[in-house]
Amino acid sequence: MSQYILALDQGTTSSRAILFDRDGRIHGSAQQEYPQHFPQPGWVEHDPRDIWNSQLAVAREVLRAHRVGSFHLAAIGIANQRETTVVWDRHSGEPIAPAIVWQDRRTAEACDHLREAGWAERIQAKTGLELDAYFSASKLAWLLEHVPGARARAERGELAFGTVDSWLVFKLCGRHVTDASNASRTMLFNIHTMQWDAGLLELFSIPEAMLPEVVASSGDIGPASSEWFGGPVPIAGIAGDQQAATFGQACHKPGMVKNTYGTGCFMLMHAGRSPAVSHNRLLSTVGWTVDGRTDYLIEGSVFMGGATVQWLRDGLGIIRESHEVEALAASVPDNGGVFLVPAFAGLGAPHWDPYARGALVGMTRGTHRGHIARAAVEAIAYQSAELLDAMCRDTGCPVAEVRADGGAARNDMLMQFQADVLGVPVVRPQVTETTALGAAYLAGLAVGFWESQEEIAAQWRAERVFEPAIGDEQRRALMGRWNEAVVRSKGWA
Ligand code: G3P
Repeated sequence: MSQYILALDQGTTSSRAILFDRDGRIHGSAQQEYPQHFPQPGWVEHDPRDIWNSQLAVAREVLRAHRVGSFHLAAIGIANQRETTVVWDRHSGEPIAPAIVWQDRRTAEACDHLREAGWAERIQAKTGLELDAYFSASKLAWLLEHVPGARARAERGELAFGTVDSWLVFKLCGRHVTDASNASRTMLFNIHTMQWDAGLLELFSIPEAMLPEVVASSGDIGPASSEWFGGPVPIAGIAGDQQAATFGQACHKPGMVKNTYGTGCFMLMHAGRSPAVSHNRLLSTVGWTVDGRTDYLIEGSVFMGGATVQWLRDGLGIIRESHEVEALAASVPDNGGVFLVPAFAGLGAPHWDPYARGALVGMTRGTHRGHIARAAVEAIAYQSAELLDAMCRDTGCPVAEVRADGGAARNDMLMQFQADVLGVPVVRPQVTETTALGAAYLAGLAVGFWESQEEIAAQWRAERVFEPAIGDEQRRALMGRWNEAVVRSKGWA
């Protein structure tokens, strides 16, 4: 009898595979980092073959380590880094170029030209997105323009475009599909009609023949070839990683909020069964389609979250392992007036400034690495607080709590400071691998492994609640100083 769901969590810096049992508990996991390429300032690329090979390797590793065969698996669910753009040859299955990663800024100027031509509002009305280099459309247009022969091949129907979910499904079972949560991040998908938008395809000069078929987030996609896991396993769930995490956090009802502390920070609020309209520069996006119904979310995306701590480790070398940041930040009683704005890849929501750059302000002769570590941890929380503030202004929803997950959610100091600057309790669940869990739930619902969303929501359990411990006045003062620091980072590049 099938005992597990295999969740594939293909993230920006690593590929993970996790086995979940019927109680939504982790039975085993495996993880592998893979190479990042920065060929020019502002460019970020992945080799799509590394994405596939590392994902396949960890899936096989977790099955082998736990003696789980394909016959023990009820289904496979996929959650993926979003927006990252892959183009491959349909016949050979080979990518035609490196994948352009969501963080890549090479198309910022192309987006400026569209903005100057007055497209921003029309694009937002159709897609729910800000006109920004973050999304796939301008990246795909760049590949068609710069890879020799690509446009002609695409027009002849020889090339396929996909986000990372499409690429993995193509490798696993040969189908060329995506789900609506991923499609909604391409800037080519109309979130009202739930179809590829002919006007946007024309605007970005994208041949329709390249696009994947849009399927439900929870539903039978086809069996993964026996070649990979020793027998066929149904692929039955797909969602962009942040939408998957929202589903895994059981934020199934309007007003419920989660924040994931990964490479970036992604705060999403459930917005109900129709697209929300943001007046505060947040994104309106598809959450998931399950049982023929679509749930929508409102999202704030911050580009540098946990990656700020990686920069302390790899860029400054003031810690050797990421977890050391907590002790170093705790070695000082407060930030000593130091603020770090980690706008290394520009600023995302709610500022959307691709030309902002990192700023470290407020230093004195007495500043040392403890203050910088503290400023880095606090920056993650300040950026997230700006998102919740914009969300509350957009929706008018009182927020009861923020559910936290992702690697940096293990940092108690960050969680406490987050609650302080939000003025709202931050709740860490027992299972913090909610991205993979969400993908598992979507797949498990499709094959009857779980019966209903109510059953799933009942499995969610808090591990710890962080209550706000500072008053409104102090909160306003801290946010005020943060905002002054942000102003200094803007428009620098
Ligand atoms: O939009 C980008 C996001 O999907 C990346 O997530 O977890 O790889 O940082 P992560």
